Amino acid sequence: MAVVGSVLIDGEPFAPEDASISVFDIGFQRGYGCFEAMRSYEGSIFRLDAHLERLARSAAKLHMPEPDREAIGTWCRSAAATAGDGVVRAFISGGTDAKAPGTNSRIVVFAESVPPMPDALALQTGVAPWHTDGEWFELTGAKGLSYGFNLVASLVAVQAGFDDALLIGRRGHVLEGPTFSIGWISNGVFHTPAIEIGILESITRRAVIDAAGGIGMTVREGIYNVEAVMDAEEVVAMSTVREVLPVAKIDLQTYQPGPATSRLKQAFTGLVERELGR
Ligand SMILES: Cc1ncc(COP(=O)(O)O)c(C=O)c1O
Repeated sequence: MAVVGSVLIDGEPFAPEDASISVFDIGFQRGYGCFEAMRSYEGSIFRLDAHLERLARSAAKLHMPEPDREAIGTWCRSAAATAGDGVVRAFISGGTDAKAPGTNSRIVVFAESVPPMPDALALQTGVAPWHTDGEWFELTGAKGLSYGFNLVASLVAVQAGFDDALLIGRRGHVLEGPTFSIGWISNGVFHTPAIEIGILESITRRAVIDAAGGIGMTVREGIYNVEAVMDAEEVVAMSTVREVLPVAKIDLQTYQPGPATSRLKQAFTGLVERELGR
């Protein structure tokens, strides 16, 4: 991780090595709080409002007060301006009162350089027993700080020689990656798991759906068994950090990043450029 510029804590700048919050914060003690990762292109954040809205939804699901979107937006824009092309991260800690989360939250914002990315990903499927696989519960869709399960899933896949994991629900449905959404092309149609299955409402996934619509590609959001992705012609991972990244392998099955992936990537890049006024 390479931090670019200062770390803002409640808007106050600190050198990265001096940036810290309390060990009594339930963000640290219990993984309680929420966060966002945003992509900045030449100093402008893609879909900042959507990120701030998702942050507010996550805070509400965690019974925390409504965050000050204007202040956080200003801090994020400032971090982006320093970073240029980068990843801007915003965290709201739970604060130090477990009985009243958010009463003294700390808000941390900083930018990182974009990490190097492989040309294509090799994914290992893994069952995610902690995921509800379609059953709604209070925290469904919240981007909370408790990412331990997802991080371990990635590590297990990396230890097995893959780049990352592809999470499968207890009922056998394709969900998402630990930090990305998944989509695939079958018979010229772009498929991606529906939000209703309980996956994160990914901002990149939404943008790719918009971009696919813009080039006349049919999009289907649904509940799919793992075979649907296994039998696909082309597969892509989607996230703020990865944008649209081809998947070359899932378990033993290989895929060729083909023409549909190129069209989707191009359409996504075009959409980003248009929305950012380039
Ligand atoms: C579980 C999960 N799914 C999907 C995504 C992709 O979301 P976004 O496109 O908003 O970055 C992320 C991003 O971190 C994630 O953690």
